[in-house]
Amino acid sequence: MSKKITVLAGDGIGPEIMKSGLAILATVKPDYQIEEQFFGGAAIDHSGSPLPAETIEACQNADAILLGAIGGPKWDNANETPEKGLLALRKQLQLFANIRPIKVTDSLIDFSPIKSEIIRGTDFVIVRELTGGIYFGKPQELNAENALDTNTYQKFEIENILRQAFRLAQQRRKLVTSVDKANVLATSKLWRKTAEEIAKEFPDCTLEHQYVDSAAMKIIQQPTHFDVVVTENLFGDILSDEASVLPGSLGVLASASDSLNGPSLYEPIHGSAPDIAGQDIANPLSMILSVAMMLRQSFNENQLAEKIETACDNVLKKGIATKDLKGSATTTEFTNAVITDLKGR
Ligand code: NAD
Ligand code: IPM
Ligand code: MN
Repeated sequence: MSKKITVLAGDGIGPEIMKSGLAILATVKPDYQIEEQFFGGAAIDHSGSPLPAETIEACQNADAILLGAIGGPKWDNANETPEKGLLALRKQLQLFANIRPIKVTDSLIDFSPIKSEIIRGTDFVIVRELTGGIYFGKPQELNAENALDTNTYQKFEIENILRQAFRLAQQRRKLVTSVDKANVLATSKLWRKTAEEIAKEFPDCTLEHQYVDSAAMKIIQQPTHFDVVVTENLFGDILSDEASVLPGSLGVLASASDSLNGPSLYEPIHGSAPDIAGQDIANPLSMILSVAMMLRQSFNENQLAEKIETACDNVLKKGIATKDLKGSATTTEFTNAVITDLKGR
């Protein structure tokens, strides 16, 4: 039986870049079972819910999940929002570990707004806790004159994500940078203490701590310092969009979200980009590289993943790039260039 991939194209540029990702997948390995499901704003329009029962069931029964992006102004003030669907999906599948690689390949150096001597060699991973913290803490209230969010972490949640970060560091340069705000926040004080305890299980690795404000600065000032950066949900969200300035665009960053034993979900780190949707100008690299991450992590297809990454590199080296990287290629043209390169080898 071929493996099953549940596909959630979503909203805005989601369906455009998903089409690219699936075209690349079909080029390297055409025999996966693809099951498309409604999700996000598209699902609200279809059935009133951003995460219909059928969609969550298809995700639970998949070998891997591919997600484009969700959201848009059409649903921003509704009761049911696409974002609520995304958080519910992450929570229900227990996708607590979001892996966001920030790699500036030589092919991207000229596209970055940062000086080449600063970014050359940048290769780190942000490990973002994804099912806890202020995104999920109760109570949450919105009233006319006041509002309340709650940041909360259980010790076991911090232990789980720290272990995930150390295991990843063991396969890399063995440096874990734990990012918190332990000079102010109680959750961060528990985070830091727990990080120290988990570090003892990984004596081959080095643990350092950094406050989130100075980490935000250092990521741009000295990005080659970092190997594995582990942090809570909200800090990881913000730092990873910031880090996208290093390779030159949000449109090149992929991610994997992992649970302890269920299927992983692969998605770009960016959103549905309503400002450019429907114009065939979105950068599909984030989705194509998410497909490569899926092949490597979920299906052990290291060679196929590498083949896709090399093809993307080759295309960029030829100067073919979308508008976000100051190029003039459309989404379709960029995708076709990658397919041509794949078929040529
Ligand atoms: P965004 O990430 O969608 O866009 C930010 C900027 O980056 C925009 O100028 C956009 O054009 C550009 N951009 C993003 N991806 C690109 C790509 N592949 N190619 C070229 N340019 C790209 O963030 P936003 O505008 O703040 O949010 C838009 C919507 O997306 C909101 O509804 C938000 O909630 C949602 N969102 C969803 C996800 C997700 O599905 N995982 C992630 C982030 C935001
Ligand atoms: C992301 C997005 C989501 C998040 C939103 C859309 C809920 O920004 O995937 O990074 O904040 O996690
Ligand atoms: Mn985000």
